[in-house]
Amino acid sequence: MIVCSCNVISDHDVRNAVNAADDLPRSPKQVYDCLGCSAECGRCARTIKTIIDDALGACAKSCGAGCPHSAAAAEPDVHAEFALAAS
Ligand code: FES
Repeated sequence: MIVCSCNVISDHDVRNAVNAADDLPRSPKQVYDCLGCSAECGRCARTIKTIIDDALGACAKSCGAGCPHSAAAAEPDVHAEFALAAS
């Protein structure tokens, strides 16, 4: 379904942009940038933001330890190592 008539962007295009980007786009402007366009009338911004949030799932609220998109996920879990050492 086309969600941005000015740039002819579909919901599929938005999901692909979110899933394919190394640096997760979290705003409609970042999605426009990923897709090589820019906002024209802006009527689609709210819809695109909803699709971004759906595509990111829990990451849309905040990335925490264990999230593959979080920088913290690349670091060792200090708390788990401490718990193992204490037991
Ligand atoms: S509908 Fe997307 S910028 Fe106009």
